[in-house]
Amino acid sequence: MTARILDGKSLAAELRAEIAAEAAALHAETGRAPGLAVVLAGEDPASRSYVTAKEKACAAAGIRSREITLPASAGRADILSAVRALNEDDEVDGILVQLPLPDSSIEREVIEAMDPAKDVDGFHPVNIGRMVLGLPAFVPCTPAGVIEILRRAEIPLSGAAVTVIGRSQIVGRPLSVLLSQKGVDATVTLCHTRTNDLARHTRGADVVVVAAGRPGTLTADMIRPGAVVVDVGVNRVPDASRASGYRLAGDTDFDGLRDVAGAITPVPGGVGPMTIAMLLRNTVEAARRRRTAPA
Ligand code: GUN
Repeated sequence: MTARILDGKSLAAELRAEIAAEAAALHAETGRAPGLAVVLAGEDPASRSYVTAKEKACAAAGIRSREITLPASAGRADILSAVRALNEDDEVDGILVQLPLPDSSIEREVIEAMDPAKDVDGFHPVNIGRMVLGLPAFVPCTPAGVIEILRRAEIPLSGAAVTVIGRSQIVGRPLSVLLSQKGVDATVTLCHTRTNDLARHTRGADVVVVAAGRPGTLTADMIRPGAVVVDVGVNRVPDASRASGYRLAGDTDFDGLRDVAGAITPVPGGVGPMTIAMLLRNTVEAARRRRTAPA
């Protein structure tokens, strides 16, 4: 079997066109384009490139973006005061603090300082709590992107056995909640570094989502023929033949899985572009709610 490649880039382009139309309508209605503020502390090259990609996507969708760049030496007080200023700034509809912060021990406090109504990453406890309860909430972008790519590719989830590998707060854990929600209706198995016999759980799955942060986590012998594989990993693997000195690889043995899976997302060009599209969608939604909320 040769797997169908789930082309996140073209599905995201479709979605971005829809979001751009919504942003334009909101701009026309309210006289102002939706606005996103991105806080980037330090010079991590991967974070820099993610932030640039997000800003470019905003511009293409008619969303204003503003970057607040802080030095790696910025302390807790500097970052908290930047976030609080953005909470108060009426021009700002959505706030994103790029993670990891140089001092990761303050991340929780920084996220909790954010106005939940502007938390377009969906990381604030209010949004996570509302998501778990099935109430309207900003939902984290990568899990939302995984569900959207499967939905647009018409992969059935209702009643399906979905195994998620990785229990991170940004991806695996919220994804397990969303997949099991009414309306999505998957039966979810959440695996992690302490899981015994990982292959037993992946072989029983109709869909395997890999968000482990480790190349080669899922190999062809670990799935049943025809299963759908979603690879959330983004790893920089050393590659001397490239000018950059590295290439991007996911968490799966893509070449091996291609011969066994029914469908698979590539890296790059799979989940990544959908994640960015979800950020745009959340930002337009934040703007709509803020501008149409009863006083
Ligand atoms: N770092 C890696 N993924 C993300 C994300 O989705 N949002 C933020 N803010 N930082 C990240």
